[in-house]
Amino acid sequence: MEKVTATNSDIEKAAGVLRAGGLVAFPTETVYGLGANAEDSAAVARVFQVKGRPPTHPLIVHIGGAEHLGEWVEDVPATARLLAERFWPGPLTLVLRRGGRVSLEATGGLETVAVRVPDHPVALALLSAFGGGVAGPSANRFGSVSPTTANDVRAELGDAVDFVLDGGPCEVGVESTIVDATGEIPSVLRPGGVTREDLEAVLGRRLAVHSTSRIRVPGQHPSHYAPRARVVLVEPEKVVAEAELAQELGHQVGVLLPPSFADAPVKAHAVVAVPDSMAAYARGLYGFLRKLDQRGCDLIVASLPVEEGLGLAIANRLRRAAGPRPSE
Ligand code: TXA
Ligand code: MG
Repeated sequence: MEKVTATNSDIEKAAGVLRAGGLVAFPTETVYGLGANAEDSAAVARVFQVKGRPPTHPLIVHIGGAEHLGEWVEDVPATARLLAERFWPGPLTLVLRRGGRVSLEATGGLETVAVRVPDHPVALALLSAFGGGVAGPSANRFGSVSPTTANDVRAELGDAVDFVLDGGPCEVGVESTIVDATGEIPSVLRPGGVTREDLEAVLGRRLAVHSTSRIRVPGQHPSHYAPRARVVLVEPEKVVAEAELAQELGHQVGVLLPPSFADAPVKAHAVVAVPDSMAAYARGLYGFLRKLDQRGCDLIVASLPVEEGLGLAIANRLRRAAGPRPSE
């Protein structure tokens, strides 16, 4: 479905940039990635520098197929094998014990490594032409909204990236689901494009979701997936009133209007009617936030969708965009 605009010669050029230790922004089905040769410590270090990302935040290693998994991890437990077979290529990242091939910079010094096979023809062509693994976070500055078009990448990173491969707008729109598959019982570290329900159906068991674990430090952790505007989350039926109040108080208010209130007139600076379908909402989410920023909003009022299916990932991103609340 993606509008593929990268040509074969673009892909060859991008593979050459990776081989030479450069950085390539590339499309995936989730969001655009900022890629470097996963075996090249210096190139990986530049990814952290360009993103402004702390070196302890590990990257995802993108590989061309499940058959290469064994080259990057120490061992592949049966559960991980099952998930890889079922969901790759696709928006699922598996955290496993690190193999010797991946640079320690990419894993932030951890003894585990996050790996996935992206489901995008341009990403797969790049991985095939390059032949190795591509370590890459989302192609945005640390903490901000992930890019879902090549233009978003250019706006975020400009000349700091050596080459941008354009693969059209991302189909899924939120990042991959990260599953810790190191132990006997897998758990979800970040909800994303593969739903918890899909994982549970394949595994035949319930899964724990630890989506805000580890890196949350009360009051200190910067918000992630955040637009410039402050994001305020309220109940769906309070979105309109909250937005109008803030607008009256002098804010430039952007509204993510829930589907059940789609026809409500809202006195606000900018209004985005949220799609009814969760797939369409996920696909559009980061674009909506970018648009409200570009329109000059300083405050965005939104509500959380029902936290099932893709709604779980959308709610997770909105919560993180709103930042840690004082009580947490
Ligand atoms: O869809 C995606 O996952 C996109 C595309 C480009 O593949 N990538 C992405 O990367 O979202 P990034 O760097 O923005 O997020 C990677 C996440 C981070 O939250 C990081 O902490 C986690 O993966 N991660 C990476 N390695 C890990 C590890 N060994 N253990 C636990 N978490 C890990
Ligand atoms: Mg990111």
